[in-house]
Amino acid sequence: MDIKNLKILFTEEQIQKRIKELADEMNRFYGDEEVYTVCVLKGAVMFMTDLTKQLNMPLKMEFIRLSSYNGGTSTSGKVNAVDISLPDLNGKNVLIIEDIVDTGLTAKFLLDFLNCNFHTKSTKFCSLLDKKTARVNDIEPDYYGFEVDDKFLIGYGLDYDGYYRNLKYIGYIEKSDLE
Ligand code: IMP
Ligand code: MG
Repeated sequence: MDIKNLKILFTEEQIQKRIKELADEMNRFYGDEEVYTVCVLKGAVMFMTDLTKQLNMPLKMEFIRLSSYNGGTSTSGKVNAVDISLPDLNGKNVLIIEDIVDTGLTAKFLLDFLNCNFHTKSTKFCSLLDKKTARVNDIEPDYYGFEVDDKFLIGYGLDYDGYYRNLKYIGYIEKSDLE
């Protein structure tokens, strides 16, 4: 794949502005309540760091690692829990932070896992991107940054075969440029 064929979808400025809006909304919602953020690695790492810097409540950061992609641009349709060790979240406000909800399988897996293992005070799901048209279930994030078309996106945490997570912006590649 040639990075020159990347089309920019959201610039660094657009992403940061939207993150600030989401954080303002969360600051209003949680007030002084303690929150446990759960970052879904690896894709949500950039979003988690920029979002949490704008949050004002007492906060603890947790990290889990799930994978569903085959390495390239297609989902395997099965969620693989690479590392899902979490502290006791009973009675806690849990805020899941994801890069993108695509089919919704990862989100469903994670919400079911939390439901089965903990009786949280609240569980909210926040995703920077929402590919609503690709959904195979009825999952809806409580917070999302941008709705996106069913294109393959890279940058700002999102990867193509492990690369491009470090881009400051989000771009897409035409399907014809991928093969
Ligand atoms: P889902 O389980 O199909 O909702 O997909 C969730 C995961 O697939 C996300 O957390 C991403 O890591 C990855 N993913 C989905 N769409 C894209 C994309 O367009 N680019 C890169 N990764 C993606
Ligand atoms: Mg992800």
